[in-house]
Amino acid sequence: MGLLNGEVAFITGASKGIGRAIAEIFAREGALVAAAARSEGEIKELCRKIADAGGKAIGIKLDLRSEESVKNAVAMAQSELGPIDILVNNAGVLRLSKIVDTPTEVWDDLMDTNVRGVFLTCREVLPSMIGRKKGRIINIGSMAGRRGYEEQGAYCASKHALVGLSKVLSIETQKHGIRVHMLSPGGVLTELSRELRASRGESEDSTEWMTVDEIARAALYLCTQDGAAMTDELILRRFASEPWR
Ligand SMILES: NC(=O)c1ccc[n+]([C@@H]2O[C@H](COP(=O)([O-])OP(=O)(O)OC[C@H]3O[C@@H](n4cnc5c(N)ncnc54)[C@H](OP(=O)(O)O)[C@@H]3O)[C@@H](O)[C@H]2O)c1
Repeated sequence: MGLLNGEVAFITGASKGIGRAIAEIFAREGALVAAAARSEGEIKELCRKIADAGGKAIGIKLDLRSEESVKNAVAMAQSELGPIDILVNNAGVLRLSKIVDTPTEVWDDLMDTNVRGVFLTCREVLPSMIGRKKGRIINIGSMAGRRGYEEQGAYCASKHALVGLSKVLSIETQKHGIRVHMLSPGGVLTELSRELRASRGESEDSTEWMTVDEIARAALYLCTQDGAAMTDELILRRFASEPWR
């Protein structure tokens, strides 16, 4: 019996990195996974891998920047798997540039994906969760939602905005039995952080950066929290980083 047996989990940005690792661990624990992202090939390959391991997952094409795409993706997940129990807002993008050099399109792309996209998925999924008085939302934040980092103006702004969105979501949904968590990691070894690691002269496989599996295990832990205890934000920093920053 898995920890998430029969739970329907909708995971954005499941084609690679942290989202893919969350999809795999959730499926291993018995969840029915809706794996959503733009890259259909990678999503299909993930679903095959999950099926080969005895799990269940469906691939869903999703571009978070499009309201219509979000509506279609949520509707498809619900019609194929049933009402969504767990929504993981994981998809995100990062571009490095000083504020003075940031093109408007880059700013809009980050805000549309990292914040507006989360608003859209939540607004689409919440009516069913509220109706059933059951649901859990995990928003993947970042240390960049707590501090400022050079060349990460748009990214930091988006992740700080996500903190505000998560706070209000928690307040508005608590009375409906819905739990909203933020999972905020520091540096993780994924494509998203490659340019950042390169700019800091870090090696591609630095053991000082967290793995996607470490983040996925933390997401699973949050999904097991059902009693009187509640984690609003789970912060995962690199052990090599400065404590309490
Ligand atoms: N890596 C880190 O160091 C780190 C640290 C703290 C927080 N985070 C956060 O962790 C989350 C996952 O990042 P990651 O490191 O795993 O990055 P990643 O490997 O680059 O994966 C990002 C995922 O987001 C999806 N995505 C991007 N734009 C999208 C869009 N418009 N619509 C739908 N999906 C979209 C990508 O899929 P497609 O391209 O196929 O659409 C991909 O699956 C992000 O929110 C990121 O901010 C990462």
